[in-house]
Amino acid sequence: MSEPPSTEQRSLAHWAEAGRAGMEAFYALALEDYRRMVAARDWAADLRAHAVDGRVRVLDVACGSGKFPAELIRRGLADAVAGTSVEIALLDPSPFSLAEARSVLAAPFTVGARHRSRIQDLPADVGGFDVAWATHALYAVPPDEIGAGIARMVAALRPGGFGAVVHATAASHYLRFAAAFRDTFAPASVPFTTAAQVEQALTAAGVGPEVTTLHYDVAHTDRAVVEGFLQRCVFDDSVPLERMEAEGSVGTYLAQHVRGEEHRFHQVVDVITWENPAAS
Ligand SMILES: C[S@@+](CC[C@H](N)C(=O)[O-])C[C@H]1O[C@@H](n2cnc3c(N)ncnc32)[C@H](O)[C@@H]1O
Repeated sequence: MSEPPSTEQRSLAHWAEAGRAGMEAFYALALEDYRRMVAARDWAADLRAHAVDGRVRVLDVACGSGKFPAELIRRGLADAVAGTSVEIALLDPSPFSLAEARSVLAAPFTVGARHRSRIQDLPADVGGFDVAWATHALYAVPPDEIGAGIARMVAALRPGGFGAVVHATAASHYLRFAAAFRDTFAPASVPFTTAAQVEQALTAAGVGPEVTTLHYDVAHTDRAVVEGFLQRCVFDDSVPLERMEAEGSVGTYLAQHVRGEEHRFHQVVDVITWENPAAS
């Protein structure tokens, strides 16, 4: 019997044209993630502070469909970094994601290289970036490979470069729902990586992460949208909402998060930042 697809393989299968409807249902709730993280810090100041000769080179790790740069643009990044050129390289194993992210990039971003790669496999000669970020991006990297992925991200930054990973904690809907779904419907699947595992990996890579934790809810009253959101949360659209509500730990979890017509989920998200040590 063949092995079931890994979480990383299921993620890749969903980050494709055939997964567009699920992606849109997902972002009906998940756009809030990007509003919150962009509001959470002065990203323009981070970019300006790490520019060299008026130019900052950014690596967007696991760029997905570019919701983070799109929200930065919507909130006025171009004016906030006026005078600094922002060149962004995209990294993702999915050609669909690389094309989607490319299509939303506008001023102040200019598009640099596109790397079709997992973060763990990024060639060693890709580096020297002033800034690297990964926003809600590393859940499908297997927990036993997150150390290698984070080490590669740290190594891709120049000395004194700035890194950021925005990632849900084990107390957040994303991780709690994934754990309940795994328990009920997919016990052989690879668990999602947590923010604490990212933070341990950063410490092991020799940098000192600073963490700010965000708390907020996402909610919707349309059952079709909620079903698409939940299926996309676990990259598995084989289980309808009615069945999720009826079975095991998933049923218990969902019963705690519905009031009348509304499903409401709580997110607990770490904004993890660091600066690489300066060259000695
Ligand atoms: C939720 S999206 C990221 C969202 C994105 N940061 C944004 O601003 O819209 C997750 C992305 O991670 C990618 N991915 C999955 N496994 C990966 C890995 N091992 N290394 C890098 N990217 C990966 C997927 O292809 C997908 O495009």
